[in-house]
Amino acid sequence: MPERILIDTDPGIDDAMAILLALASPEVQVEGLTVVFGNSADVHLLARNASAILELAGRADIPVAVGAASPLVRAYHGRGSVVHGENGLGGVVLPKPATPPVSQNAAQFIIDTCVANPGQITLVTLGPLTNIALALGIRPDLPRFVRRLVMMGGAVAAPGNVNPVAEANVHNDPEAARLVFNAGWEITMAGLDVTMQVHMDDDYLGGLGNLGNRAGRFVWDVTRFYVAAYHSFGYADMVVHDSCALMAILRPEFFTSKFVFVDVETTGELTRGQTIADWRRQYGHKPQTHVLTGVDEIAFKQLYYERIAALL
Ligand code: RIB
Ligand code: CA
Repeated sequence: MPERILIDTDPGIDDAMAILLALASPEVQVEGLTVVFGNSADVHLLARNASAILELAGRADIPVAVGAASPLVRAYHGRGSVVHGENGLGGVVLPKPATPPVSQNAAQFIIDTCVANPGQITLVTLGPLTNIALALGIRPDLPRFVRRLVMMGGAVAAPGNVNPVAEANVHNDPEAARLVFNAGWEITMAGLDVTMQVHMDDDYLGGLGNLGNRAGRFVWDVTRFYVAAYHSFGYADMVVHDSCALMAILRPEFFTSKFVFVDVETTGELTRGQTIADWRRQYGHKPQTHVLTGVDEIAFKQLYYERIAALL
């Protein structure tokens, strides 16, 4: 039976690549997309992107719910557009989606879906954790109904990407992240420790672009802006963040991991948004997070290629 997943996302170029991977993979069944600010401050723009990506893949049947437009506590100071462009998709303009989002907000959609299917839904988070935190605020017992939570976020030994210690999704809402890490569920964390190991160069991306299908062409087009951003940061190639969270579900054997208690700094002047792994159990809490530490990059990219080739 496919693992039933709800993807919380801020699409977002690498989000789009991950959503397409999910739609092409028989190991998972996408129950819906819930949208959160992050790669743009305009959550309605990001929701249109989510719907447009679904329609690109012929999956307008999958519901989209609009969620948080800002963090729980402090104002949004993200600079997502530097990496994802003003429209969140690197300037690529997809056809205006025909299907509107559902009327429920994201937090309520998450609660309703999980409570109606106890123990069957995996939450996959690809953006700030605000929607999940809001859902926990309404239903603190939500973890009882959720199979597991798999996230792209954080960095426990790797440098941060928004500052020396913080990764963007956690940094965009540290208070939400701290609530999520301490909610009582088991977490699989695809942080920068692993995502920075998956590189895609233009030879590989060009292969996707020349597949002859619209999904492959879209991945090539949408990564132009993203590749240029990574080049401007001094990287030879782009790295793939969000698809690591999906691939950890599809092929856990591609990854190595360590099980550890992880918490989040919310007040430090220099460290706000840092995810801290308690390797020596000095905080005295039980481990709750499978921190992904390594990946078979070649196998990852081979499967990613095969799955995008299977799309429209
Ligand atoms: O730090 C990388 C994460 O921030 C990814 O989810 C990317 O889409 C951005 O949201
Ligand atoms: Ca994202």
